[in-house]
Amino acid sequence: MADATSTAPGAPDEGESRRDFLLIATSTVGATGAALAAWPLIDQMNPSADTLALSSIEVDLSAVKEGQSITVVWRKKPVFIRHRSKAEIETAQAVKLEDLADPETDKDRVKKPEWLVMVGICTHLGCIPLGQKDNQPKGEFGGWFCPCHGSHYDTSGRIRKGPAPKNLPVPPYNFVKNNIIKIG
Ligand code: FES
Repeated sequence: MADATSTAPGAPDEGESRRDFLLIATSTVGATGAALAAWPLIDQMNPSADTLALSSIEVDLSAVKEGQSITVVWRKKPVFIRHRSKAEIETAQAVKLEDLADPETDKDRVKKPEWLVMVGICTHLGCIPLGQKDNQPKGEFGGWFCPCHGSHYDTSGRIRKGPAPKNLPVPPYNFVKNNIIKIG
């Protein structure tokens, strides 16, 4: 995984970018329980995080309130999960396909409008975009911002400005219960 090295003027430094990467413990498939606790990832993936990078994970979304975001680790990749507000959903749905570099409707990117689930790795050169820390969206389109070279993603995780060629990818996942998803 590439470092979130800042080169853009006024961009956050590497430490800030990494502090933005918040991990949530998740239960494994078949295990009881769900999301356990949150902790900041200050430096790099530690052994505990590695053990969570399993082929399939289940995530209990019950505690994630509207306007909150969490990051879980799936196959050693950060997966951003955001409980979107009504305004964020409406903004995402109102975008015209012709305005998109990588045309995808918002409905094609979600299973339920309020839940956005996507791999949090910039499609340019692999940095981790900002927009998860403190549940504060970043960038000019109210979603995520990659300071490495200035890519802006919207409230559906679609690339709207900057060098990234593709939208943030949606991983395979399903709702196995009302508020529990299985990724992978
Ligand atoms: S890695 Fe270059 S803009 Fe994200």
